[in-house]
Amino acid sequence: MIARESIPFAPNLIESMRSLGYSFETAIADLIDNSISANSSKIDILLSPIDNPYLIILDNGYGMNSNELEEALRYGAKNPLEKRKNTDLGRFGLGMKSASLSQCRKLVVASKKDGLISCFSWDLDYIIQNKEWMLLEYDSEEINKLPQIELLKSLPSGTYLMLENFDRISSSTYDLNTTLNSYMNSTIDHLSLVFHRFLNEGVDIYVNNNKIIPRDPFLSTNRGTQPLPEQFITINNCRIRIKPYILPYMNKLTSEDLQKVGGKEDLRTNQGFYIYRNKRLIFWGSWFRLTRKEELSKLARVMVDIPNDLDEVWGVDIKKSTVHLPDVIKKNLYSCIEESVFKSKAVHEYRGRKETNNNDINYIWERVELRDNCYEYKINRDLPQIQLFEESLDSNQLKYFDKIITNLEKMFPSTSLYLDASKGKIMDESSVVTDEEIEELYNEICDSLKYSEKMSLNKESVLESLLKSEPYCNYKELIEKFKIGGSNE
Ligand SMILES: Nc1ncnc2c1ncn2[C@@H]1O[C@H](COP(=O)(O)OP(=O)(O)OP(=O)(O)O)[C@@H](O)[C@H]1O
Ligand SMILES: [Mg+2]
Repeated sequence: MIARESIPFAPNLIESMRSLGYSFETAIADLIDNSISANSSKIDILLSPIDNPYLIILDNGYGMNSNELEEALRYGAKNPLEKRKNTDLGRFGLGMKSASLSQCRKLVVASKKDGLISCFSWDLDYIIQNKEWMLLEYDSEEINKLPQIELLKSLPSGTYLMLENFDRISSSTYDLNTTLNSYMNSTIDHLSLVFHRFLNEGVDIYVNNNKIIPRDPFLSTNRGTQPLPEQFITINNCRIRIKPYILPYMNKLTSEDLQKVGGKEDLRTNQGFYIYRNKRLIFWGSWFRLTRKEELSKLARVMVDIPNDLDEVWGVDIKKSTVHLPDVIKKNLYSCIEESVFKSKAVHEYRGRKETNNNDINYIWERVELRDNCYEYKINRDLPQIQLFEESLDSNQLKYFDKIITNLEKMFPSTSLYLDASKGKIMDESSVVTDEEIEELYNEICDSLKYSEKMSLNKESVLESLLKSEPYCNYKELIEKFKIGGSNE
């Protein structure tokens, strides 16, 4: 056997590396990670609305000398398995390059350390032309021509990134500047949440000279918020800190508070664990399928602090925007908070009461009595057919599905239903059912059973639960058919 060197073809690989799946805001957040890791106390994001717009990120961190900067710009500059300081938000040695070039074709980085400024750039067009991994180094004259470079010069140390030629965004819009401005607005929202703990602790981030206000999703300084006792779990000698909060009841929230927690509409979808890696929020608004997102637990949010030593265990991704927690951590997390959050008086006080006519039936619609003698109708997310469907969705699809159902509930046409019902004009189709319809329902259940088998679920108990659920439980003939044929159809 002989070993042969196989060097990646620069133009192709660098183009593919642009497609790791960054959005505009996750890309900018990845660059801010670097500034925070470099001990910056002030970070400026400057977007220039001109014909060829560019975006500058300037920090006052410790900066890099020429060798360090050249090395930092190399793809895979660091070993992902290397132990990092517990204040380092990086892991893969890729972010600065892959995040910037996911949005634009040219990245210029100038950095100041020990009074000297050095500067290099990755230019995709240059690489395509020359077919080699070539960085471009700037001399002092070229550095002086960079827009707003005097801002870096005035700092004792720091780093300046300029992103230019937003080809992808520009090909998707007629008006690049308007689109960039609207992306910038969602970026402000995103940064105010994912970095809220840093923003609270002395790191200032400005966008075009406007300071970003931290958005604390726990409203921890609001007197109505109930912090519950923190707990710890230890994995591989590392401590994970778990701190649950119960938000104040909605009518106690000011409009500013509501905005901080994601708005009234999204209160329900934003409940769940908030996973932080070194105080930087990575992922939020999910119970990891360990429990359901009930209307009733919508005020519960649990801060989970995971140190970067556990990166390998929980599978942080390059974009730092998703997590793949191993089942053992998830279960540990859940059992830590089950008692305190879901069974606590704090939550129960806010709970509505589900009304049921018959406990043996899984109704599709639930009538929930709220505290002020009003009712709301909710779709029962515990229905086995909904649960089975949710099993097939990834976490983003799950959030989207939840939003669809929430919107259906919100748009329930109660007034026209009331009027039609009062005139006796509602057709009750459920009582009349043909053989073909029974056959259709039967096949539906068989499909669900096949799927449950694929998911290694207990087929018998899924069948039992389906036959207790609407609409199936309404048809004796259907239930009989399964009694005769069993679940092996
Ligand atoms: N603003 C900055 N100030 C000082 N050093 C920086 C800055 N940005 C990047 N660096 C240096 O460049 C290196 C490479 O950055 P890059 O973002 O590409 O990878 P990373 O942060 O190590 O890991 P990740 O891919 O997870 O972000 C960093 O580890 C850091 O040493
Ligand atoms: Mg980084």
